[in-house]
Amino acid sequence: MIRSVVLGAGAATPKHSVTNDQLAQKMETSDEWIVQRTGIEQRYIADSCETTASLGERAARLALKDCGLIPDDIDLIILATSTPNNTFPATSVEIQNRLGMKHGAAFDLQAVCTGFVFAMTTADTYIKSGQAKRILVIGAETFSRILDWQDRTTCVLFGDGAGAIILEAQECNGMMDDRGILTNHLRSDGSHKGKLYVDGGPSTTGTVGHLRMQGREVFKHAIGMIRDVVESAFEATGLDSDSIDWFIPHQANKRIIDASAKMLNIDSKKVVITVNQHGNTSSASIPLAIDVARKDGRLKKGDLVLIEAMGGGFTWGALIVRW
Ligand code: ACO
Repeated sequence: MIRSVVLGAGAATPKHSVTNDQLAQKMETSDEWIVQRTGIEQRYIADSCETTASLGERAARLALKDCGLIPDDIDLIILATSTPNNTFPATSVEIQNRLGMKHGAAFDLQAVCTGFVFAMTTADTYIKSGQAKRILVIGAETFSRILDWQDRTTCVLFGDGAGAIILEAQECNGMMDDRGILTNHLRSDGSHKGKLYVDGGPSTTGTVGHLRMQGREVFKHAIGMIRDVVESAFEATGLDSDSIDWFIPHQANKRIIDASAKMLNIDSKKVVITVNQHGNTSSASIPLAIDVARKDGRLKKGDLVLIEAMGGGFTWGALIVRW
C-alpha cells in the first residue's frame, strides 16, 4: 500500500523574542503568573517586515533543504493558518510564488490550532488517492496581529512562527512497522464557537478582529477531546502509549500537555514540550516542536510519534506517524 512518509522538516521563528518580564513592563502581569499557569517563558513576535507568508517560506525552504529537494519536486502545498497575509488570495499561493513554483497547486486550510493535524491528514488523503506524490505541509501564523494587547488574559499566551514537513508517497507493506502516517482522526464541533473565536471577519464586521477566549472553558474541554481522538488512533492501529517513542502535542499550555500525557499513561520523558520557548503558535506549534526534537537528536528515523491538537471551533485531531 501507499503511505505518506516524512522526508524532511524545517521551522522558522521571527527575529525578536519577548520574555514574560518584557511583557510585564507593558501590562499588569508577571513571569511567575504566566509560567505557573501556562509554562510559557517567552514567545517570538513578528516585526512589521515579517508575515505569515515570509515565515512560511523560510520554514518551507529549510524543509526542502533538509531532504535535498527543490520546489520543482513538490506537487502540492497545503498551508494551515488562521492568520493569512490577506483575506484572499490564499497565503499558500503567495508562498508558492515566493518559492518560484509555477506548477502544481496550493491552498490554505483553516482549523485554528488543529490546523497542522488537519493539513497532514488532508495531504495523506491526496497521497493515498494518488493525486499527489510530494506535498509540502506548512503551519504558519502571526497570531500577534489578532491579539488584543489590552487583554492580559489572552495576549500573554500566543506567539508567531512557522514549521513545515514534506510528505512523499512510498510503497509500504501495510503493517504497523511501516514508515509514514499510520492513522489519522479528525473531529469538530461548532457548538463551542463562543469559547474561542476571533470577533471579526470579512463577512460579519468587515474587520480582522481580535482573539477572544474563555480560558477555563477551553481547558475543561481540552483533556476529554484529546483522550477521545488519541484513543481512536490507538484503537485503529492496535498501538498503545508504551509503543510510542515521542508524544508531540499542540503546544498551548504545559498544564494541558502534562494532564493529557498523564491521562494517556505516556511517560513524561517521551513528551516534547516547546511551549516554554514559543508560546502558543496555533497551527505552527507542532512543526516547531518537531524541529526542536529533531535538532536536539531526540526524534530519529523509525521512531513512532503520536501527534495531537485541539483548538478553536472546537476542532481536534490526532495522528500516529512512524518517522
Ligand atoms: N497576568 C496576571 N494575572 C492574570 C493574567 C495575566 N496575564 N490573566 C488573568 N489574570 C488574573 C485574572 O484577572 C484573575 O484574577 P482575579 O482572580 O483577581 O479575578 C486570575 O488571574 C485568574 O484568572 P483565570 O482566568 O481564572 O485564570 P486561570 O487559572 O483559568 O488561567 C488560563 C487562565 C491560563 C488562560 C487557563 O484558563 C488556561 O490555561 N486555559 C486554557 C487556554 C488555552 O490553553 N487555550 C489554548 C488552547 S486552544 C488553542 O490553542 C487556540
